[in-house]
Amino acid sequence: MMIDYHAAVRGALFDIRDVCDSADEIARQARYLDDGLLFIRDGRIAARMSWQEGEQYLDPQKGYTDLRGHILLPGFVDAHIHYPQTEMIGAFGEQLLEWLSTYTFPVESQFADPAYAAEIAQFFIDQLLSHGTTTAMVFCTLHPESVNALLTEALKRDMRLIAGKVMMDRHAPDYLTETAEQSYRQTRELIQRWQHQGRLGYAITPRFAPTSTPELLDAVRRLREEFPDTWLQTHLSENPNEVAWVNDLWPEHARYLDVYHHYQLTGERSVFAHGIHLHADEWQCLHDTGSAVAFCPTSNLFLGSGLFRLPACWRHKVRMGIGTDVGAGTTFSMLRTLGEAYKVGQLQSYRLRASEAFYHATLGGAHALRLDDKIGNFAVGKEADFIAIDPAVTPLQRLRVERCKDVYETLFVLMTLGDERNIRETWINGQRAWAASATPVG
Ligand code: GUN
Ligand code: ZN
Repeated sequence: MMIDYHAAVRGALFDIRDVCDSADEIARQARYLDDGLLFIRDGRIAARMSWQEGEQYLDPQKGYTDLRGHILLPGFVDAHIHYPQTEMIGAFGEQLLEWLSTYTFPVESQFADPAYAAEIAQFFIDQLLSHGTTTAMVFCTLHPESVNALLTEALKRDMRLIAGKVMMDRHAPDYLTETAEQSYRQTRELIQRWQHQGRLGYAITPRFAPTSTPELLDAVRRLREEFPDTWLQTHLSENPNEVAWVNDLWPEHARYLDVYHHYQLTGERSVFAHGIHLHADEWQCLHDTGSAVAFCPTSNLFLGSGLFRLPACWRHKVRMGIGTDVGAGTTFSMLRTLGEAYKVGQLQSYRLRASEAFYHATLGGAHALRLDDKIGNFAVGKEADFIAIDPAVTPLQRLRVERCKDVYETLFVLMTLGDERNIRETWINGQRAWAASATPVG
C-alpha cells in the first residue's frame, strides 16, 4: 500500500470520533494516540495512524514535520465572537444594555472606514490563529465595509470562517441605524459576494430583538427564504433586563425566542448566543428546529449575565458550541474559555470533564455550525485544520503536567493553567498558517 500525501505530521493525537448525545458518550468516543502520524493530501486528512503503523508509508524525499512532545488537536471552533470589539476587551463596570450604549456602539462606529476595518481584521485573524482557533462565527458591524475587510483577510488565509453584517434599525444611535430596506439590500449583496467564496460562509446577522423592528425581522425572514444555505446568528436571552425589554417590545409573543421563531429565524444553521434565561418551552423549540446555542462563559461572567445551564442543554438535546464573545468575553483563548466553562459548571454542581470540554470546542462546535462533515476531528477526508499544543511552557505547568497520570488530566490542567502560550502551531487546510515565536507564515 502507498499513501499519496503532501505533508505528514508526527505528534500525540487527540480527538473525538463522532458526534455525541451525552458527556458519557464523549468519554467513550475520545481517542488518543501517544505517538501518531497524520498524512495530509490536498488540504484533507488522508490517513491517521500510530507512528509504528504509519512510518513505513513515509516518503524519505518528503520527510515529515516532527511535533513529538506536542498534542495535536483539531482546530478550535469559536461559535460566537465580534471582531470589531477586539479593541474594547475589559470595558469596566456595566452590564449588557449599558455596556452596549456606553462602550460598544461608539467603537463599532469606526468600521465605516475600510482602512480601519482592514487593520483590525488583520489583527483579529492573527489573534484567532495564534490562539489555535481555525473556525469562527463572527459578528461584524452595520457597515458592509466591515464584512468585506474581514472576509478578504480570511479568504487570503484560506480559513473556514462565517461572518455577517450587523442589522439594526432601532434603539441604536443614529450613526449606527439603517432602514430595514437598506439592511435587506446590503445583506443581499454581501451574501451574493461572499457565500461559498473559498471556505467562507455568510451569516445573516440581526443584532438582537431589541434593535430590530418587525420590518427588519421580516427582511431577515425573506433573506433566509431566498438564501436557504446561509447561516443566521443573533443574541438570545443573555441578561434579565434584556429579556424584560423584549417582553415589553414584543407583547404579542409569549417568550423571547418566540419573536425569532415567528419570523422563521430558528432552524438549521441558526446560532443563538447565550441562551441563559431560557424557559423549558424555548429549549424545546431550539431542539425541535435544529437550532444551536453558543455558550460564552467569560462573557457571561464578565457582564454578570448569569450561568449557562449545560445540563439543560444536554437534556433538551440542543446543539451547542463554545464562544469567546470577544469583546464582552475576556480572551481569545479557547483553553481559558474552557477553564471558565468548568467553573460555571461547578457553580451548578456540574463536572465538565476535559473530554467533554474539548469536544464542545472542536467537533461539538462544528456540529452546532453544521460543519461537522468538514471539520472537527481527524477523520479521514476531513479538512486538515489542526493545532499543536505544548502542554508545559511555564515552570508551573511543567511541575504540574509532569505529575499528570494520563492525557485527560493533562488536558484538564491545560483548561486550568493554559492559554495562548501553549499553542505552538496552527494549520489551516493542510498548511502551517502560524507558528509560535515567528511571524505568521504565508
Ligand atoms: N447583545 C446585543 N449585542 C451584543 C453584543 O455586542 N455583545 C453581547 N455580549 N451581547 C449583545
Ligand atoms: Zn455577542
